[in-house]
Amino acid sequence: VIDIRKLYGETGYFTYDPGFTATASCQSAISYIDGDKGVLLHRGYPIDELAEHSDYMEVCYLLLNGELPTAEQKAGFVDTVTRHTMLHDQMNYFFRGFRRDAHPMAIMVGVVGAMSAFYHDSTDVDDPHQRMVASYRLVAKMPTIAAWAYKYSIGQPFIYPKNDLSYSERFLDMMFAVPAESYRVDPVLAKAMDRILILHADHEQNASTSTVRLAGSSGANPFACIAAGIASLWGPAHGGANEAVLRMLNEIGTVDRVDECVKRAKDKDDPFRLMGFGHRVYKNYDPRAKVMQQTCHEVLDQLGIKDDPLLEIAMKLEKVALEDDYFVDKKLYPNVDFYSGIILKAMGFPMEMFTVLFALARTVGWVAQWNEMIQDPHQKIGRPRQLYTGPAQHPYVPIHKRD
Ligand code: ACO
Repeated sequence: VIDIRKLYGETGYFTYDPGFTATASCQSAISYIDGDKGVLLHRGYPIDELAEHSDYMEVCYLLLNGELPTAEQKAGFVDTVTRHTMLHDQMNYFFRGFRRDAHPMAIMVGVVGAMSAFYHDSTDVDDPHQRMVASYRLVAKMPTIAAWAYKYSIGQPFIYPKNDLSYSERFLDMMFAVPAESYRVDPVLAKAMDRILILHADHEQNASTSTVRLAGSSGANPFACIAAGIASLWGPAHGGANEAVLRMLNEIGTVDRVDECVKRAKDKDDPFRLMGFGHRVYKNYDPRAKVMQQTCHEVLDQLGIKDDPLLEIAMKLEKVALEDDYFVDKKLYPNVDFYSGIILKAMGFPMEMFTVLFALARTVGWVAQWNEMIQDPHQKIGRPRQLYTGPAQHPYVPIHKRD
C-alpha cells in the first residue's frame, strides 16, 4: 500500500500490485475459479459437466443470459446466431489487403476491429438490444472470420457459411472444405471441436478479458473492444501458449529428452519454461486440462493415429514434472493449453491457427463480460494509478545549455 501524500501531495492511499495478483478489478457473476481445488464454474455449472453434457451454443446462451436455455430458448438463440454468420461483402477486401503470410491473429485483430466501421450505427452501448445484437454478430461471425483468415493464407477460395450445419460443423466446413472436392464433417471431430470451444469460452478476469473490459469502460465500440482482447490474447503467456507447447514438444523430439527439458525449466539462469504448465490462479490441476486430455485420446482414436510421438512426449513430460519437487512445490500443473495443440494438429489445424481458435471460443466470454461491465452501476472508466519512479520536478534546460 502506497501513501500517495508522500508521492503526489494528494490525500489517500493506493496499492502497488504489478500484474494485479491481489486486486479485484470488478464484480462479476459469470465465472468462478477455485484455484486451490481446481474448480471452474460458469454461472455455477462445473466446466467438466458442461463439457460432458452441453454444447457450445448452450454454453454461449448460459454465459450471455445467466441460465441454461429451455429447448425453445435454445432453438431461438441458435436461429438468431445462425442468421448472422455471413460477413458483409466488403469485408472481402480487408482479407485481400493482407500479405498471404500474415499471422492469422494479425488478420483477426484487423478484421474484427474493422467491423466497428460496418456496425457503427448499431452499437449504442447503453441500449441493451443493440448490445445483444452486437454480441450475436460477434459470436456468429467469428468462425467465418477465422476460417477465411486461414483460407486466405493458403490461397484457397473462401467457403461461405452453411447454415444447415451446427456451429462447430459449420466452422470445420469453412476451414477444410474445398469447392472442387466433396467434404463431410466428421461428427466425432465436430463434437471434439465443440468441446474445445466450451473449454475456452470464459475464464474470469484474465489478461484479454480485462483488456476488453478496460477498453469498453470508456464506452468504446464493442467490435473495437473485442479486437483489443484478441491482441492481448495473442501473446505466448496467454492464448499463444498452445502454439508454444507444440513447438516445445517438437523441439524435445523424443521421449528420452524429456528429463533434460524438465531440468532446463528449473534452471533460473535459463529463460526456458515448460509451456502449458502453471497458471496464475490454478494451484492444482486445471479442470479444463483433464477434459482436454480425454478429448485428445478420443480424437487420435477417431483419426486412427496410434502412438503419436508428440502425445507420448507430452504424457511423459506431465508424469516427470508432476513427480518433481520444483513443480510440486510451486504447484505447477498442466493447464488447458497443454493438450489442446496435439488435438488441433491432429484435426488438421496449422499451428498459427491455434490461438485463433482460442479467440473464436473466448469471444462469447468477452462479450458476456463486456455486457456485464456496461450494466454494472459501480463501473467507472478503468484508470489505474502508478508508482512514479522518475525525477522530481526541475526547471527546463535550453538546448544550448545541455551537456
Ligand atoms: N515452467 C517453469 N517454471 C515456471 C513455470 C513454467 N511453466 N511457470 C511458473 N514457473 C515458476 C516461475 O519461474 C516462478 O518461480 P520463482 O518463484 O522461483 O521465481 C514461479 O513458478 C511462479 O511463476 P510466475 O511466473 O511468478 O507466475 P505467474 O502467475 O506470473 O505466471 C504463467 C503464470 C504466465 C501462466 C506461467 O506459469 C507461465 O509462464 N507458464 C507457461 C506459459 C503458459 O502455459 N501459459 C498459458 C497460461 S493459461 C492460459 O492463458 C489459457
